[in-house]
Amino acid sequence: MLRKLTFLIFFALACGSQENTQFKSADEINQLPLDHYQETYRPQVHFSPISGWMNDPNGMIYYEGEYHLFYQHYPDSTVWGPMHWGHAISTDLIHWEHLPIALFPDSLGYIFSGSVVLDKANTTGLGTLEKPVLVALFTYHNRAIEEAGGKDYQYQGLAYSSDKGRTWTKYLNNPVLPNLGQPDFRDPKVFWHKESRKWIMILAVRDHVELFGSGNLIDWKFLSRFGDQDGEHRGVWECPDLIPLKVEGTNEYKWILIASINQGPANRGSCTQYFVGDFDGIKFINGASSSEVKWMDAGWDNYAGVTYANTQQLADRTIYQGWMSNWEYAIVTPTIKWRSAMTLPREINLLTDSVRFWIRQNPVIELNNLRKDTLKVNSLKLSGEQDWSKYLSITEPLLDIDIVLRKSGQMSSWYFLLSNEKNEELAFGFDEATEEYFVNREKATLLNFSTSYQSKHTAPRISSNNEMRVRVLLDQSSIEIFYDEGDVVFTEQLFPTQPFTRMSLTSPNTVLEVEGAVYHLTSIWH
Ligand code: FRU
Repeated sequence: MLRKLTFLIFFALACGSQENTQFKSADEINQLPLDHYQETYRPQVHFSPISGWMNDPNGMIYYEGEYHLFYQHYPDSTVWGPMHWGHAISTDLIHWEHLPIALFPDSLGYIFSGSVVLDKANTTGLGTLEKPVLVALFTYHNRAIEEAGGKDYQYQGLAYSSDKGRTWTKYLNNPVLPNLGQPDFRDPKVFWHKESRKWIMILAVRDHVELFGSGNLIDWKFLSRFGDQDGEHRGVWECPDLIPLKVEGTNEYKWILIASINQGPANRGSCTQYFVGDFDGIKFINGASSSEVKWMDAGWDNYAGVTYANTQQLADRTIYQGWMSNWEYAIVTPTIKWRSAMTLPREINLLTDSVRFWIRQNPVIELNNLRKDTLKVNSLKLSGEQDWSKYLSITEPLLDIDIVLRKSGQMSSWYFLLSNEKNEELAFGFDEATEEYFVNREKATLLNFSTSYQSKHTAPRISSNNEMRVRVLLDQSSIEIFYDEGDVVFTEQLFPTQPFTRMSLTSPNTVLEVEGAVYHLTSIWH
């Protein structure tokens, strides 16, 4: 990571575009001409920054009718650099209003990833009971200490806001959690644990996580560590989360520990693992064997995802959102004014078949409000290749496909193929020989921005139903595929040099019954 950061900074200084957006007011930002969001590859149903660089989502919280999305941001370039917290709000998780930058780097360092909580009981003493404050806990990354060869260059800072996140004051006695000599010590995710009546912070520390407890968000005490022997260790752990999820169909809760891994197993670059277990207020206990690794996403472009705070009070749902890129090639993707988008926000649920647990993900229901035209797929018998080009929109490649494929007996192979005049193509579907889902983007672009981009990704099917529900969300430069109601998910960036104008669905070996609908979507920026 260190070498990567140094390289990234050099790269940022050497070739970043120098548009300075730091001091724009909220009004200025939202008066930008609409064609600003029409650039090639600009996502139309996903959040992306107006300009400049973006990576991890930070400080996601629902508060007084607004969802807040902060994010790792370097406004002066389209590659990584001195980190700020960018800021946007939404009332529906889909349409976003850009707000001015929330946190700027200062003498203590860059502002790395972290979280925001509502200090309702005024445990910090920084607000009042009538006017509670939002509190941000984030990592300071100190370049000077790092360059001087010190190991303690990351420590945790605090900032608070009493005006619904519009302005932030940094705590005078930062850092609140100093570093005792651990080079990777970052990305605090904080929550209130009501059973033990304290705040819990989960922190990524090199290749494991550490838990800290506090009564006031300011004084932190070490509680425990997890992960030394569990899960995947080839790579640095980052951006952890710890959340309770109800096991579907029961009244039982399990705790989910999420940890992203950077530059891990060669073929995955940046990926996110999770563990299902229990949390007693002090330590997390993994419910599965320590060697088992569960992945949040089988695609390559969902990283650093964590959950929104405070959504349970609203609708008892847990919403997870990640950064839709991969450190393997994030700084060289072919966009010009901005870099990167977030994944769609997803509701997550915990499923079990009494042998194992798994997380199911689906786009939040609010996304359905973007549907404008409904093209019904009336029950049809699919045998061989069928041309589905008529379902593509001629104006914008924004699609929401929601279909069911079924057959008596064991499920057989099928695949979608999207292509264009340049013979760029993207294939995805199910392979009966391996019983795996796949996405193949080996020929998805003629652009050569990275040798690792062109690749095929696979994941085993979990369900054994002879009916498969498939939901596909296609945007200008991404596809998200939710197989079997979201049991297996692929998130992938796409950069065809021309929009895909052909689509087909193929059942090569047998007859499949297919029905459902294809929806065209409205852009969130119109
Ligand atoms: C993950 C990460 C975090 C860090 C941030 C820096 O993508 O490396 O660990 O806080 O990005 O921008």
